[in-house]
Amino acid sequence: MRQHRIAAIGGDGIGPEVIAAGCRVLEATAAAQGGFSVAFETFDWGSELYRRTGKMMPEDGLKALEGFDAIFFGAVGAPDIPDHITLWELRLAICQGFDQYANVRPTRLLPGVRGPLREDLGRQIDWVIVRENSEGEYAGVGGRAHRGLPIEVAMDVAVFTREGVARICRHACEVAMSRPRKLLTVVTKSNAQRHGMVMWDEVCAEVTAQYPALTVDKMLVDAMTARMVMKPGTIDTVVATNLHADILSDLASALAGSLGIGATGNIDPQRRRPSMFEPIHGSAFDITGKGIANPLGSFWTAAMMLDHLGEPAAAQRLMRAVEVVTARGDVLTPDLGGNATTDQVTQAVIAALSGAN
Ligand code: NAI
Ligand code: MG
Repeated sequence: MRQHRIAAIGGDGIGPEVIAAGCRVLEATAAAQGGFSVAFETFDWGSELYRRTGKMMPEDGLKALEGFDAIFFGAVGAPDIPDHITLWELRLAICQGFDQYANVRPTRLLPGVRGPLREDLGRQIDWVIVRENSEGEYAGVGGRAHRGLPIEVAMDVAVFTREGVARICRHACEVAMSRPRKLLTVVTKSNAQRHGMVMWDEVCAEVTAQYPALTVDKMLVDAMTARMVMKPGTIDTVVATNLHADILSDLASALAGSLGIGATGNIDPQRRRPSMFEPIHGSAFDITGKGIANPLGSFWTAAMMLDHLGEPAAAQRLMRAVEVVTARGDVLTPDLGGNATTDQVTQAVIAALSGAN
């Protein structure tokens, strides 16, 4: 029997609540599907550890994660610690340390969920956004000088490397090719940013030319936001820079109904080191400890992770169980207009797993 070893890092706020629910659902999925098992090791890294030790994760944290098949991650962020510390010292430390250069985010309006768009438009949303996750605007290159003086200056330098652009575009082409429509939109801003974005366009054109079966179009990022709202059905797979895709994917998740549902993978397509899967939401201090966090984002995340681990049938089974529950509509958390608890939704999905074949 195949065994998948998973590092579970709940992190902060509702992170540990939804990851615990996700681990239960993963075990139930493995049991229902058969053929494989999942083994979890839990790491209590995050803001609590930071308050005690001044570190979000131990010095040798990456080493501890190296041997796992995947990482299942909750969220980071605490009201009393600056966000750039929690983010850079845990989540980004893993993404960058393991060179998880492709951030992949599927978006769909699940059955029974109402999004903000007109029903006929909302139902057309079926996208995968592929975000460059290792460089670009978030490369962390820059600095501040003359601190506190009237002449103070601050710079963030966007870094685009030929290989960095080529590899994310190749992965986006592979994702697009694996989907029925074989349609890829390259998002850019080369009208205004005339160095990095122009090279981005050139390299993406070279890479996409190697996939003759793909239909490729190019879109300026500002126009892309309008297209996502006005003509969602014209979009399938999207590739964009770190910053652009960050913004587009938040728009995508809002159009899909709730922040509590979306999932994402931080992937190393070469599989040199473990990839990391996480619900898109943050630590949600306002509902932490109340037992009402929506666990569906964690379940969708778990399904993406199963797919990556080579268990596509189990992944589909889990997504069908999630959809059975959303379609029924009577066991939903408050963010989706219901009054169920995290635990009740988890139990409903586990029950649906044995029904969904
Ligand atoms: P957030 O996603 O934590 O919360 C935004 C709103 O959505 C809140 O009203 C929250 O209650 C609700 N919400 C989020 N997830 C939910 C779920 N599963 N079920 C029900 N309701 C849910 O974003 P916010 O408030 O901007 O950030 C809070 C903290 O989280 C900050 O410290 C931020 O830096 C961090 N954060 C971390 C992320 C990560 O670890 N990947 C991503 C986004 C934010
Ligand atoms: Mg974001």
